[in-house]
Amino acid sequence: MSLSLQKSVYKGSILAEALTSSKELLKVLGWEGPDGGLLRRELKKFQEIVGFSSHILWMVEDILKEDTVFLDCSCGKSYLAFALNRIIKELYGIEVFFYGVDTSPTLVERCKDMASSLGYENMSFWRGRSIEFSPQKPVDIVLALHACDAATDEAIAKGVRLDARYIMVVPCCQNQIRGQIKPSQPLRALTDLGLLRYRFADLLTEALRAQVLRGAGYSVELHEIVPPTVTPKNLVLTARRLRNRRKRGMEGYKELCQLLGVRSTLEGLLPELFEG
Ligand SMILES: C[S@@+](CC[C@H](N)C(=O)[O-])C[C@H]1O[C@@H](n2cnc3c(N)ncnc32)[C@H](O)[C@@H]1O
Repeated sequence: MSLSLQKSVYKGSILAEALTSSKELLKVLGWEGPDGGLLRRELKKFQEIVGFSSHILWMVEDILKEDTVFLDCSCGKSYLAFALNRIIKELYGIEVFFYGVDTSPTLVERCKDMASSLGYENMSFWRGRSIEFSPQKPVDIVLALHACDAATDEAIAKGVRLDARYIMVVPCCQNQIRGQIKPSQPLRALTDLGLLRYRFADLLTEALRAQVLRGAGYSVELHEIVPPTVTPKNLVLTARRLRNRRKRGMEGYKELCQLLGVRSTLEGLLPELFEG
């Protein structure tokens, strides 16, 4: 299939078919059921991966080419990278490159073994924190799926540092901001009930990340990768580097911080954006 695929490719069923048609891949990912199809207990993860892949391809199709480089931060078992690799080969007929980074030595060794048993030479894995990773190839697209807490901030900061064209993160738990919301802040009536404070902290965390990315010269959108019934952690924050990447200042970020008395982990990871 050519690079100029129709919108229909983004329908999950085409991507799901591209994935499940490789029994070898299903087996290596540990997703193969007794009948050779998808293992039932992996359905939720499968839906997340298909939903995120669909969103990624929708966003980056125009810039995809041989040797486009993806970085999967906090990759875990790298389901996302393995799935995208297969989908891009199947549907676009090209081979892109994937880096996967994770702090767990066991998971990184497992990913290396999986890539080697599938004969995928276009994947490379590194053990360590995302923020400390130094890729040899220039990275085009930074991804993170359910990177715990501040590991999502590391993925965002790494993307900005690497000057990536796209940064797409689906956050997981968000504890950094929730603990900073004090009873003395002016929106107390909104946050003094536990569940509301929890949800408000999630929204605030994403709003702060979006403002930092805007300030760094990216345009930002928020979408859902799957319905909330599949997972409540379904929000994807997508940042596209602007062609004329003029840093726009941190006014939006600072206003929110001042109002609510909070600070994002991104301040510590990208101090250069906050100087002056
Ligand atoms: C919830 S898992 C998600 C794994 C994978 N992205 C997925 O969706 O299946 C979070 C992963 O982040 C890794 N991790 C935590 N902090 C990290 C950091 N600072 N840099 C890189 N990886 C990190 C953990 O080892 C774990 O594998």
